Amino acid sequence: MHIIPIASGKGGVGKSLIAANLSIALAQAGKRVILADVDLGGSNLHMLLGLRSIKKGIGTYLSNQKLSFKDLLIKTKYKGLDFIPGDAEIPGTANLSHTQKNKLIKNLTSLDTEYLIIDLAAGTNFNVIDFFLISSRGIIVTMPTLTATLNAYLFIKNALFRILYSLIEKNSPVLAYLDELKKKGDGLQKIYLPQLLDNIKALDKKVYTSYRKKAEHFHPRLILNLLENQKDTTIAERLRRSVKEYLGIDIEHLGVMYRDEMQDIALNSRLPLLVYKPQSILSGAIYRIADKLTQYVEDEEQLLDISSFDESFQVAELEAEIDFSERLRYIEELMHSNSLSMGDLVDIIRSQHIEIEKLKKENQLLKTKLAKAVREGFKL
Ligand SMILES: Nc1ncnc2c1ncn2[C@@H]1O[C@H](COP(=O)(O)OP(=O)(O)OP(=O)(O)O)[C@@H](O)[C@H]1O
Ligand SMILES: [Mg+2]
Repeated sequence: MHIIPIASGKGGVGKSLIAANLSIALAQAGKRVILADVDLGGSNLHMLLGLRSIKKGIGTYLSNQKLSFKDLLIKTKYKGLDFIPGDAEIPGTANLSHTQKNKLIKNLTSLDTEYLIIDLAAGTNFNVIDFFLISSRGIIVTMPTLTATLNAYLFIKNALFRILYSLIEKNSPVLAYLDELKKKGDGLQKIYLPQLLDNIKALDKKVYTSYRKKAEHFHPRLILNLLENQKDTTIAERLRRSVKEYLGIDIEHLGVMYRDEMQDIALNSRLPLLVYKPQSILSGAIYRIADKLTQYVEDEEQLLDISSFDESFQVAELEAEIDFSERLRYIEELMHSNSLSMGDLVDIIRSQHIEIEKLKKENQLLKTKLAKAVREGFKL
């Protein structure tokens, strides 16, 4: 079974949209798929699938001893795709106990399916991270803003800390060392991980070696969603570099997805985008990601080739370029076919305005720099 948890540091970046549509794409490709809503406290996947009311889900299961986990499975109208609802009917299970969490993880991992897609809650707390760490190749969704990227980075960092902590035995001197660091008030977030690992190596070689082994196989996959512009893709490369340099691990780029107004219309029609508009650029991006995922499965026998991760970033950039020109062509076509509504036009003009404002600011900045350079030049 291929387990694919979908997480993000920041909320509202498109996890649920991706979870729902990716599951449908995989099911359409003939795979047996189960989609689980583990965004406890914020479950909304059923709505994305067009299901109005939910009678039982993970919430009911956690509060009812007699219910079997398998009873939660609902057949969807998409052949090959089953669904496990979250806790929309009994909210308030956001704070799982340790036992509840382990029970859920055990149940999820013993399901019988080819693909298990897990939609998670936003955030970097350990409860979410534990579900993410069911797999070493989970998906992290982010968008091209500073906070979203920073949160994606912190998510990976916290996941690594989680791995580290899970390997420390009670009597290890590392535990005291980490407690001491925490007490100093700097917080673990600020610590430079390679330095920390060196210190741990000196204290407890076993912890260090098992951490290295685990981290070596930990390769989260990135999806950069809500792109406005081709230039936005550079943020993925920057994230990759920081993760490599400061956290010592390699991530892979699964692909980009542009912001598409069609998604709002699909949402209102209560249909997943892939079903509402399979020809849209956004649907195309999701099919492309599904393709990559199934491709990896076939290659799984081979050893992980880290150098192919480099390529994954180049491919994603190329795809962003293709989608961008496709978007432009699409808008041009709409203009000529007179099928643009007033609202569409207003939206387009508004986004153009934002674009122009951005360019103006950049221009201003360059002018200032130039003026400064000239001034300094004169001084010389
Ligand atoms: N590429 C896109 N184009 C247009 N709208 C999008 C796109 N991606 C996401 N959205 C919209 O952004 C909003 C947030 O998406 P979604 O609910 O999937 O995010 P999320 O990460 O699951 O959020 P949460 O953290 O709250 O669970 C939704 O209204 C969704 O329709
Ligand atoms: Mg969500």
